Amino acid sequence: GLKKKEVHVLCLGLDNSGKTTIINKLKPSNAQTQDIVPTIGFSIEKFKTSRYLSFTVFDMSGQGRYRNLWEHYYKEGQAIIFVIDSSDKLRMVVAKEELDTLLNHPDIKHRRLPILFFANKMDLRDAISSVKVSQLLSLENIKDKPWHICASDALKGEGLQDGVDWLQDQIT
Ligand code: GTP
Ligand code: MG
Repeated sequence: GLKKKEVHVLCLGLDNSGKTTIINKLKPSNAQTQDIVPTIGFSIEKFKTSRYLSFTVFDMSGQGRYRNLWEHYYKEGQAIIFVIDSSDKLRMVVAKEELDTLLNHPDIKHRRLPILFFANKMDLRDAISSVKVSQLLSLENIKDKPWHICASDALKGEGLQDGVDWLQDQIT
Protein backbone atom coordinates (compact mmCIF):
# COMPACT_ATOMS: atom_id res chain seq x y z
CA GLY A 1 0.00 0.00 0.00
CA LEU A 2 0.90 3.64 0.09
CA LYS A 3 3.42 4.75 2.61
CA LYS A 4 2.08 7.30 5.09
CA LYS A 5 3.72 10.66 5.01
CA GLU A 6 5.26 11.36 8.39
CA VAL A 7 5.02 14.94 9.60
CA HIS A 8 6.94 16.36 12.52
CA VAL A 9 4.71 18.62 14.59
CA LEU A 10 5.90 20.81 17.47
CA CYS A 11 3.34 21.30 20.23
CA LEU A 12 4.18 24.52 22.10
CA GLY A 13 2.56 26.88 24.59
CA LEU A 14 2.70 27.76 28.28
CA ASP A 15 2.47 25.15 31.00
CA ASN A 16 -1.08 24.17 31.93
CA SER A 17 -2.49 25.34 28.57
CA GLY A 18 -3.58 21.80 27.68
CA LYS A 19 -0.99 20.60 25.14
CA THR A 20 -0.72 17.04 26.45
CA THR A 21 -4.49 16.79 26.90
CA ILE A 22 -5.00 17.83 23.27
CA ILE A 23 -2.41 15.41 21.89
CA ASN A 24 -3.85 12.62 23.99
CA LYS A 25 -7.34 13.30 22.60
CA LEU A 26 -6.04 13.18 19.04
CA LYS A 27 -4.74 9.65 19.50
CA PRO A 28 -6.89 6.61 18.75
CA SER A 29 -9.12 5.91 21.76
CA ASN A 30 -7.31 2.69 22.66
CA ALA A 31 -4.04 4.60 22.93
CA GLN A 32 -5.37 7.42 25.12
CA THR A 33 -4.39 7.66 28.77
CA GLN A 34 -6.61 8.76 31.64
CA ASP A 35 -4.17 10.54 33.87
CA ILE A 36 -2.26 13.44 32.39
CA VAL A 37 0.53 15.01 34.40
CA PRO A 38 2.67 18.07 33.69
CA THR A 39 5.22 17.18 31.03
CA ILE A 40 8.84 16.97 32.14
CA GLY A 41 11.12 18.07 29.32
CA PHE A 42 9.17 16.71 26.37
CA SER A 43 7.54 13.61 25.07
CA ILE A 44 7.28 12.21 21.57
CA GLU A 45 3.94 10.86 20.40
CA LYS A 46 3.26 9.14 17.09
CA PHE A 47 -0.14 8.46 15.60
CA LYS A 48 -1.85 8.55 12.25
CA THR A 49 -4.33 11.31 11.58
CA SER A 50 -5.69 10.07 8.27
CA ARG A 51 -5.07 7.40 5.67
CA TYR A 52 -2.18 9.40 4.28
CA LEU A 53 -0.58 11.20 7.19
CA SER A 54 1.07 10.24 10.42
CA PHE A 55 2.05 12.83 13.01
CA THR A 56 5.16 12.64 15.14
CA VAL A 57 4.41 15.22 17.81
CA PHE A 58 7.05 16.77 20.05
CA ASP A 59 4.91 17.58 23.08
CA MET A 60 7.10 20.08 24.89
CA SER A 61 6.84 21.11 28.51
CA GLY A 62 5.62 24.69 28.84
CA GLN A 63 7.17 25.26 32.26
CA GLY A 64 9.55 28.21 32.31
CA ARG A 65 12.56 26.11 33.18
CA TYR A 66 12.03 23.83 30.15
CA ARG A 67 11.09 26.42 27.52
CA ASN A 68 14.73 26.72 26.44
CA LEU A 69 14.41 23.15 25.09
CA TRP A 70 11.88 24.20 22.46
CA GLU A 71 14.36 25.75 20.06
CA HIS A 72 16.40 22.57 19.72
CA TYR A 73 13.49 21.02 17.81
CA TYR A 74 12.60 23.96 15.57
CA LYS A 75 14.75 22.73 12.68
CA GLU A 76 12.96 19.42 12.40
CA GLY A 77 9.48 20.83 12.93
CA GLN A 78 7.29 20.93 9.81
CA ALA A 79 4.22 22.35 11.51
CA ILE A 80 3.41 23.96 14.86
CA ILE A 81 0.49 23.59 17.22
CA PHE A 82 0.49 26.48 19.69
CA VAL A 83 -1.89 26.11 22.62
CA ILE A 84 -3.30 28.96 24.73
CA ASP A 85 -5.31 28.72 27.94
CA SER A 86 -8.14 31.13 27.02
CA SER A 87 -9.04 31.57 30.69
CA ASP A 88 -5.55 32.62 31.76
CA LYS A 89 -5.79 36.36 31.12
CA LEU A 90 -2.92 37.14 33.47
CA ARG A 91 -0.45 35.14 31.42
CA MET A 92 -1.72 36.05 27.95
CA VAL A 93 1.15 38.54 27.73
CA VAL A 94 3.63 35.79 28.62
CA ALA A 95 2.13 33.57 25.91
CA LYS A 96 2.55 36.47 23.45
CA GLU A 97 6.19 36.91 24.47
CA GLU A 98 6.90 33.22 23.90
CA LEU A 99 5.11 33.31 20.56
CA ASP A 100 7.05 36.38 19.43
CA THR A 101 10.34 34.76 20.49
CA LEU A 102 9.37 31.67 18.51
CA LEU A 103 8.42 33.65 15.39
CA ASN A 104 11.69 35.58 15.47
CA HIS A 105 13.90 32.54 15.91
CA PRO A 106 16.30 32.02 12.97
CA ASP A 107 15.14 28.42 12.53
CA ILE A 108 11.51 29.55 12.22
CA LYS A 109 11.56 33.09 10.92
CA HIS A 110 11.93 32.59 7.19
CA ARG A 111 10.09 29.30 6.85
CA ARG A 112 6.53 28.97 5.67
CA LEU A 113 5.52 26.66 8.53
CA PRO A 114 1.80 26.32 9.16
CA ILE A 115 0.80 27.28 12.72
CA LEU A 116 -2.38 26.01 14.28
CA PHE A 117 -3.51 27.87 17.40
CA PHE A 118 -5.88 26.30 19.88
CA ALA A 119 -7.69 28.82 22.09
CA ASN A 120 -8.20 26.04 24.60
CA LYS A 121 -10.37 25.69 27.74
CA MET A 122 -13.26 27.44 26.06
CA ASP A 123 -15.54 25.56 28.45
CA LEU A 124 -14.38 27.65 31.40
CA ARG A 125 -16.62 30.50 32.48
CA ASP A 126 -13.94 33.17 32.26
CA ALA A 127 -12.51 32.03 28.94
CA ILE A 128 -12.21 34.76 26.31
CA SER A 129 -13.21 34.16 22.68
CA SER A 130 -10.77 32.92 20.05
CA VAL A 131 -11.17 36.28 18.28
CA LYS A 132 -10.07 38.06 21.44
CA VAL A 133 -7.15 35.64 21.90
CA SER A 134 -6.03 36.29 18.35
CA GLN A 135 -6.19 40.06 18.97
CA LEU A 136 -4.21 39.83 22.21
CA LEU A 137 -1.54 37.75 20.47
CA SER A 138 -1.54 40.06 17.39
CA LEU A 139 -1.93 37.09 15.08
CA GLU A 140 -2.90 39.40 12.21
CA ASN A 141 0.76 40.40 12.09
CA ILE A 142 1.80 36.92 10.98
CA LYS A 143 2.04 37.45 7.24
CA ASP A 144 4.60 34.93 6.04
CA LYS A 145 3.07 31.76 7.48
CA PRO A 146 -0.34 30.20 7.11
CA TRP A 147 -2.08 30.20 10.48
CA HIS A 148 -5.45 29.32 11.87
CA ILE A 149 -7.07 29.57 15.30
CA CYS A 150 -9.69 27.21 16.71
CA ALA A 151 -11.52 27.43 20.01
CA SER A 152 -11.22 24.09 21.78
CA ASP A 153 -12.30 22.15 24.81
CA ALA A 154 -9.70 19.42 25.08
CA LEU A 155 -11.53 17.65 27.89
CA LYS A 156 -14.52 17.01 25.64
CA GLY A 157 -12.42 16.95 22.47
CA GLU A 158 -14.39 19.80 20.91
CA GLY A 159 -12.74 21.89 18.21
CA LEU A 160 -9.72 19.62 17.86
CA GLN A 161 -10.61 17.85 14.63
CA ASP A 162 -11.40 21.14 12.85
CA GLY A 163 -7.91 22.31 13.68
CA VAL A 164 -6.22 19.10 12.61
CA ASP A 165 -8.19 19.07 9.34
CA TRP A 166 -6.90 22.56 8.59
CA LEU A 167 -3.33 21.52 9.43
CA GLN A 168 -3.54 18.47 7.19
CA ASP A 169 -4.80 20.59 4.31
CA GLN A 170 -1.74 22.80 4.70
CA ILE A 171 0.60 19.83 4.53
CA THR A 172 -0.92 17.68 1.79
P1 GTP B 1 2.77 21.25 30.57
O1 GTP B 1 3.04 19.85 30.19
O2 GTP B 1 3.12 21.53 32.01
O3 GTP B 1 3.41 22.25 29.66
O4 GTP B 1 1.15 21.50 30.47
P2 GTP B 1 0.18 21.12 29.26
O5 GTP B 1 0.06 22.30 28.36
O6 GTP B 1 0.58 19.84 28.65
O7 GTP B 1 -1.23 20.99 30.00
P3 GTP B 1 -2.00 19.62 30.36
O8 GTP B 1 -2.48 18.95 29.12
O9 GTP B 1 -1.17 18.85 31.30
O10 GTP B 1 -3.29 20.23 31.07
C1 GTP B 1 -3.21 21.05 32.23
C2 GTP B 1 -4.53 21.03 32.97
O11 GTP B 1 -5.56 21.66 32.21
C3 GTP B 1 -5.02 19.61 33.26
O12 GTP B 1 -5.62 19.59 34.55
C4 GTP B 1 -6.09 19.39 32.19
O13 GTP B 1 -7.10 18.49 32.59
C5 GTP B 1 -6.66 20.79 32.05
N1 GTP B 1 -7.26 21.03 30.72
C6 GTP B 1 -6.70 20.79 29.51
N2 GTP B 1 -7.52 21.17 28.52
C7 GTP B 1 -8.63 21.67 29.11
C8 GTP B 1 -9.85 22.25 28.61
O14 GTP B 1 -10.09 22.38 27.40
N3 GTP B 1 -10.76 22.66 29.55
C9 GTP B 1 -10.54 22.55 30.89
N4 GTP B 1 -11.51 22.98 31.72
N5 GTP B 1 -9.41 22.02 31.39
C10 GTP B 1 -8.46 21.59 30.51
MG1 MG C 1 2.19 18.59 28.88
